[in-house]
Parts: sequence; C-alpha cells; structure tokens
Amino acid sequence: MLSERMVATLNKQINREIYSAYLYLSMSAYSTFKGLKGFANWFMVQYQEEMTHVVKIYDYINDQGSRVKLMAVEQPPTEFGSPLEMFEKTLEHEKFVTRCINDLVNIAIKEKDHATRIFLQWFVTEQIEEEANDNEIIAKLKLVGKEGNGLFMIDKELAARAFVPPATSEPSQA
Ligand SMILES: [Fe+2]
Ligand SMILES: [Fe+2]
Repeated sequence: MLSERMVATLNKQINREIYSAYLYLSMSAYSTFKGLKGFANWFMVQYQEEMTHVVKIYDYINDQGSRVKLMAVEQPPTEFGSPLEMFEKTLEHEKFVTRCINDLVNIAIKEKDHATRIFLQWFVTEQIEEEANDNEIIAKLKLVGKEGNGLFMIDKELAARAFVPPATSEPSQA
C-alpha cells in the first residue's frame, strides 16, 4: 500500500506524462503542417512512448492496491517555431520531467518506500536516454543551421524512427 502523499504524487506524474504525450502529439501535428514528415514521425513515436509511461504508472498504482485518479490535461502550445526551437523546447520539457522524477524518488526514499523507489529507477534511466536523444538531435540541427539540404537529411533520418514498446523492466531502446 502506498502512502497518501506517494499516490498523490504518482497520480500527478500520470498527468505530466499525459501532458508530455499531448505536447509531442501537438509537435507532430505542427511538423506535418510544415511539411516535415520525418519530424512528424519522430514526435508521433515520442507520443506513443509517453503513453506507455502513463500506463506504467497507472498499472503500478493499481498493483499496489491504491487508486488512480485522473486530472484535467493542460492545453499544449500549437506553434513551435523552427525545428531547432522545437527540439530545444522538447529538451527543456524533458529536463522538467527529470526533476519531477527525482522529486518522486526523494519522496520514496524519505518514506522508506523501497518498492516505489525500485519502480522509479526505470524512469530515472529513461530520462537520461530522453535528454541524450534530444541533445543529439539539437547538435545535428545546429550543425546544419538553416541549410535546406541538411534539414532534409535530418528529416529523413527522423522518419526512420519506429515505435518499440518498452520491455517490462528495461528502458526502451527508442
Ligand atoms: Fe515520459
Ligand atoms: Fe525514450
């Protein structure tokens, strides 16, 4: 059984993961509209991945015999500027999510809730991967600048990303 504070914070994290999914779905729509099919695909895969994060926490709360309580989801932005700006916003958002996960771990440690601390380890590792992915794409986008050919190449590369459902205990390779 989870403490009231722990379950409330986990429910809040479900909301943040749903918002993340919503934000990336909005970025995918924006990319499609701008004719950047590869970017649109990358963000659509990211949307799917975020929804698996939602279900992971949802299942955990249920498995612990506590209650999932869903909250209103904030409206995401609809304009994201250049591809570089869009990925800078993505990184900024993932850094925020990392801080939230760390706060959750801190609560679990404080409450000597070992099960939740171990459960959260998956997310700690996942966040390293998320930030690394974003940093890598940002570096490439900076390298090509506003050059059309370079952007075309990156768009092609991002088009190749496929959704891989994460394994139950290991972070996804996505
Ligand atoms: Fe996430
Ligand atoms: Fe990921």
